[in-house]
Amino acid sequence: MNIPVDQDRLLIELKHLATFSEPAADGAEKPGDTAVTRIVFTDRDREARAWLHQLATDAGLSIRTDAVGNTFFRWHGSEPDLPAIATGSHIDAIPNAGMYDGTVGVLGGLEAIRALQASGFTPKRSIELVLFTSEEPTRFGIGCLGSRVMSGTLGAETAAKLRDKSDETIDQVRNAAGFNEPLNSAILPPGHYAHFVELHIEQGPILEREGLEIGIVTAIAAPASSNITIVGAGGHAGAMLMPIRKDALAAASEIILAVEAAALATGAIDTVATVGMCDVFPGAVNSVPSRVRLSLDVRDIDEARRDKVLADIRQACDDTAAKRHVTVTTEVLNADAPATCSPAILDAIETACNEEKVTSQKMVSRAYHDSLFMARICPIAMIFIPCRNGVSHRPDEFSTPESIAKGTRILARTLATLSLT
Ligand code: GLV
Ligand code: MN
Ligand code: MN
Repeated sequence: MNIPVDQDRLLIELKHLATFSEPAADGAEKPGDTAVTRIVFTDRDREARAWLHQLATDAGLSIRTDAVGNTFFRWHGSEPDLPAIATGSHIDAIPNAGMYDGTVGVLGGLEAIRALQASGFTPKRSIELVLFTSEEPTRFGIGCLGSRVMSGTLGAETAAKLRDKSDETIDQVRNAAGFNEPLNSAILPPGHYAHFVELHIEQGPILEREGLEIGIVTAIAAPASSNITIVGAGGHAGAMLMPIRKDALAAASEIILAVEAAALATGAIDTVATVGMCDVFPGAVNSVPSRVRLSLDVRDIDEARRDKVLADIRQACDDTAAKRHVTVTTEVLNADAPATCSPAILDAIETACNEEKVTSQKMVSRAYHDSLFMARICPIAMIFIPCRNGVSHRPDEFSTPESIAKGTRILARTLATLSLT
């Protein structure tokens, strides 16, 4: 079967999607880079969604949305009552991101469906493209919001406690965006889908380094995130004497270094730990910081090893609190289990790679994806394509048009195979 993926159309659409963005941060853009910021349920996100609805309508797909804004574009199969095959990803982008993270899985998924339609293929099971709400944790501090809710991992009661920077709740912002059903109505039962497969850029350096065209993801690492709040005592930066200080930022600095040390101490390449945000109060040149809030992100493919790192970090927080006479409190936002991919889907991807004569390698995903939560309701796997220098979450994120088209062809073949099962 020839799969007529339209590489030029796909690239034009990816570039157009990138125009739905907040302006680039000062000085962030270098010639040739595309800085994208698209936060869930902002005007830019809503405009991008409306444009995608139009593309899907043009492709003859039916459209459904759920209470959290997940959107389902369905190509009906010849046996529409069978559980469908799903693919998809996200279009939200962290501040000052690139234009490929998530979007390749959404527009590539759409192009895969259009290419299968053009090839004359008739699916037995329906094929559904899913646009997940807020895979990025930017607005509510927790990643994979849409797939967490859909899989029943995040219930309405817990979700109601989450607030964005303006103190708005998920219910407030989703209602304002037009998604008004009770949140739990978005839950899909196990068995709703037969399989889920996600196309994504690797976001790491391995495929490019090894000169490989496709990564076949066998497992997704277990993410955990927390907020750490350090409270000391503020005061005048000139008059407050050093021996009596309880500087919250100095204490936070020790904790940040302890986070790095705890991850390095495992000796495993799969352990990573990051403090990516640091809010300092009151944030004045001539004021001793009295309160600091840090974000903490720890991941590992081995859940027990990750939990040991979390325990070591908690111990370091206690040690710093005692030594510096500050209080340190930790609020756990999520600590998720890893996911293992389905051998049946891995076989289908491998067969597709052989048919397309592309080189591939099995690998783990250290980044998380909506697939992590889809794994709780159906068998999943992922297809990775290389990205330049392994860079992601930056404006210079880049995958070649050829890689994107190749990944899309592999996805199309995989969806076709699964839809006939
Ligand atoms: C997803 O963007 C992640 O942080 O892994
Ligand atoms: Mn991302
Ligand atoms: Mn992503």
